[in-house]
Amino acid sequence: MTDIKKAAVFVAVLSSIAAFPAAYPAFAAPVMLKGDLNRDDIVSVSDVVVFRNFLLGRYGLNETQTIAADVNGDGNVDSADLPALQDIILRSRDKLPIGTWIGDCGGAKRYFSFDSGTVSIVDPNSGSSQFFTVEDVGDLMVFRVGRAEMSAFVTWDSELSFILKWENGSTETFRYFCDSKIEATEFLTGRWVTSQGRTFEINGLSGKLTGKNGDVSRFEYAPDGENITFRFGGTENSTAGKKTVNDSMHFTVTWSDGTAERFTRQEIEVRGGITYVNGILIANKTYSLPADYAPGGILPEAQAAFNEMQADAKKAGYSLSIVSGFRSYSYQNQLYTNYVARDGKAAADTYSARAGHSEHQTGLAMDINYAGTWFNNTPEAKWIAENCVRYGFIIRYPLGKEDITGYQYESWHVRYLGKELAKEVADSGLTLEEFLCIDSRYKS
Ligand code: DAL
Ligand code: ZN
Repeated sequence: MTDIKKAAVFVAVLSSIAAFPAAYPAFAAPVMLKGDLNRDDIVSVSDVVVFRNFLLGRYGLNETQTIAADVNGDGNVDSADLPALQDIILRSRDKLPIGTWIGDCGGAKRYFSFDSGTVSIVDPNSGSSQFFTVEDVGDLMVFRVGRAEMSAFVTWDSELSFILKWENGSTETFRYFCDSKIEATEFLTGRWVTSQGRTFEINGLSGKLTGKNGDVSRFEYAPDGENITFRFGGTENSTAGKKTVNDSMHFTVTWSDGTAERFTRQEIEVRGGITYVNGILIANKTYSLPADYAPGGILPEAQAAFNEMQADAKKAGYSLSIVSGFRSYSYQNQLYTNYVARDGKAAADTYSARAGHSEHQTGLAMDINYAGTWFNNTPEAKWIAENCVRYGFIIRYPLGKEDITGYQYESWHVRYLGKELAKEVADSGLTLEEFLCIDSRYKS
């Protein structure tokens, strides 16, 4: 035969198989399942639909289907087979849920992510997860890890909820949450302020939203890779978006309507009168330090970072030295008072911090070589601007950001943040205030 003829025969065979599957038992599924009327290799509700339609005289059954339809094995295909078919479905139904379900045991919540025979149980408070195999045995769900085994009676309320009655007598209700598996690493636990002036306080997969006008609502969100769905008051009211992580303190959600909202982590903690935002000590016009806060000098880590920078600058042909490091509250007070006397308060406020508001009091800031606008365009200033981040410093008061930092451009003033954080701030192109979504403004 020519190839064309072979192909024609092949096509003819294929089409006859498709037209009369019952006539070609060799090509049928190797194992015929009782009850699998639609021959999709599972016995499911759709087989009941086929059977009902047969009983109603709407469909005929071919030979294989007829064999499969005699579910009770009495040699007849009739309405007596229907309960038997339903029985198979109930017994064989994979009662194990798929996806993430929220368990509630007297108000304590945990997330169960089921995935074909395994489940990870995540505690929203600690973020810790435990991994089990899970088996559906009759009315029981059996969880195993190593040699330990726990089982619970299962009662399905609906497709979207079930109850587990644990061996110790406790009852845990479950509601369907989402199809994807939840990893604790996807939690956005914490406090986030957004570019739309909203505040999201999140624990695990739920949270409280305070709108710009102060109105409060509750929400849940389902993370799934880059996709994220927020449900504000019920499944019907959900808003989907795509999440992009910018850095350790920011992510951006692009909502389905195309608008983007930037989320900034903002945990503000005041310890001993000192304000930390996301653990970063802050001294600016809004946040002050107690008068008695006095590390007494540049902190060792910041000093070591400067020494390293100084040594590398020297190799590159630049000479760097600290002209002002730690300044006490009383010394800052003297400086500021003198500037006010010389230039007036409004002018002094643009370049000198009031006592308690200077970053120099933290022991983490320093002025390099010369503290004055003359320094701004020197080769040393350029070298510092280009390289300080590698040692963990940022130019704290950049050019063009005077309204945000509250101060004029200071090419000589660097703030130590540590290498990782300094890089994130530098990469963001933001001032520390913008990076943390905080103000620098005197109250009066
Ligand atoms: N020159 C800076 C703003 C200070 O006084 O701390
Ligand atoms: Zn300074």
